[in-house]
Amino acid sequence: MIFTVAIDGPAAAGKGTISREVAARFGFAHLDTGLIYRATGRRVLAGEAPLEAARALEPGDLAAGGLRTPEVAQAASRVAAIPEVREALVAFQRRFARREGGAVLDGRDIGTVICPEAEVKLFVTASDAVRAHRRWLEEQAAGLGTSEADVLAELQARDARDAARAAAPMRAADDALQLDTSRMSIEEAVAAAVAAISDRMDRG
Ligand code: CDP
Ligand code: CDP
Repeated sequence: MIFTVAIDGPAAAGKGTISREVAARFGFAHLDTGLIYRATGRRVLAGEAPLEAARALEPGDLAAGGLRTPEVAQAASRVAAIPEVREALVAFQRRFARREGGAVLDGRDIGTVICPEAEVKLFVTASDAVRAHRRWLEEQAAGLGTSEADVLAELQARDARDAARAAAPMRAADDALQLDTSRMSIEEAVAAAVAAISDRMDRG
């Protein structure tokens, strides 16, 4: 069975959390495409040229720790605006999306560029303040000493760059279901996603 769930949206909206739960529920493979850009960004911070960094990516790059820092997130967003970098990373993501057995991919351009034919598309959002608070809680738990104001500024800078770039800008596909999770628990957000997927499966 080929079945793709595309989950896009701004930083810390809950894309990854919903994707992991949905993948477990339906037995689908999950790809967090943000990790690909983060791993590329980290190679660039270490001195590699962006395109060479993208071409040199190996599975181990995505499995390694240290990708969830604000510095790496900013580096990811900068390399993600370079068209040649995105082109170098497209084929792998497309193959993953249409693999046998079902796939969930989360990112910024899954429903618009990577897999416009996805069976289900969600665009997950939450208010800036809610997203900053969620990410701040994660960074506190990870021992990063950032303030909530710093987190908010980091997210807003990234969202602005991601939405304004010419190459695969962050935007909801016309046929995406919008899910504002500002006032939703994780369970409620997951239930909404599961309902959308089940509906689509029932329609065949
Ligand atoms: O993948 P993305 O950056 O969009 O967000 P995430 O890493 O899935 O979620 C950011 C944080 O918000 C995580 O710590 C979640 O537990 C939390 N959260 C959520 O995802 N959804 C809610 N409705 C409430 C909290
Ligand atoms: O977890 P969070 O939502 O904060 O970020 P992420 O999903 O790990 O993505 C990090 C950065 O990679 C984003 O700010 C985008 O610039 C870029 N990205 C992208 O351009 N296209 C994707 N499909 C996924 C991420």
